[in-house]
Amino acid sequence: MPGSLKFHQSALGKKVIMAASGIVLFGFVLVHMLGNLKLYQGAEKLNTYAEWLREMGAPLLPHNGAIWLMRVGLLVAVLVHVVSAYQVTRLSQRARPLNYKARQTLQATYASRTMRWGGVIILLFVIYHLAHLTWGSVHPAFIPGDVYSNVVAGFRVWWVSAFYVVAQMALGFHLYHGLWSMFQTLGVTAGDDRDWRRKFAVAFALLITLGNLSFPIAVLTGFVS
Ligand code: HEM
Repeated sequence: MPGSLKFHQSALGKKVIMAASGIVLFGFVLVHMLGNLKLYQGAEKLNTYAEWLREMGAPLLPHNGAIWLMRVGLLVAVLVHVVSAYQVTRLSQRARPLNYKARQTLQATYASRTMRWGGVIILLFVIYHLAHLTWGSVHPAFIPGDVYSNVVAGFRVWWVSAFYVVAQMALGFHLYHGLWSMFQTLGVTAGDDRDWRRKFAVAFALLITLGNLSFPIAVLTGFVS
């Protein structure tokens, strides 16, 4: 199928692949944030929800079966997203004529630089976050299965909360720019009205960011204890 090979090798093809994997990741951060709101319903509700995630799909699937399927899907989406982002960057660098270097640096838009650095911060955050709240290896008082107490004890450490806050802001910018470029790539238009796409990107990024920021802030202020 030479036609489809050419498409996935082209800059547009790679951007479509980046957008498709991005949609999976958008879905995850939205569902994850909504699930974490159970923190406000107390220990029992949050811990029961975490346990339900592990039992999902039973008796068809074994204990932890559905969660492992999601982990594999998520990991594939992250890998595809990072590799296609790297390839798009390389393609656009190669397409750059040398004598236009100075001008091109100016033109290397604020958005594309934010996306690359934001992506790196988010990746580092996710690795730390897994070690913190999933494996417990960098958590001072990790209790397996007690998600509520792990979150509350974890966020009581002010610099841990500060790191989460910085990472959630990086994620917010990444979601905003990512959604906006996704609309461009997929050619989502509504006549001359480009405004709703920007509004949608702002609203979605704000929803996730404010939701996620609320958790460490609620613990540090004693609203959740
Ligand atoms: C302040 C915001 C966040 C809180 C309070 C939070 C909380 C948690 C908790 C408690 C777990 C462990 C759940 C369990 O063991 O059942 C977890 C797992 C996870 N979180 Fe977050 N999270 C936040 C933000 C994020 C963000 C922004 C991402 C991704 C960009 C993310 C990605 C993950 C992943 C991949 C897992 C592992 C899921 C698994 O495989 O079991 N989290 N999170």
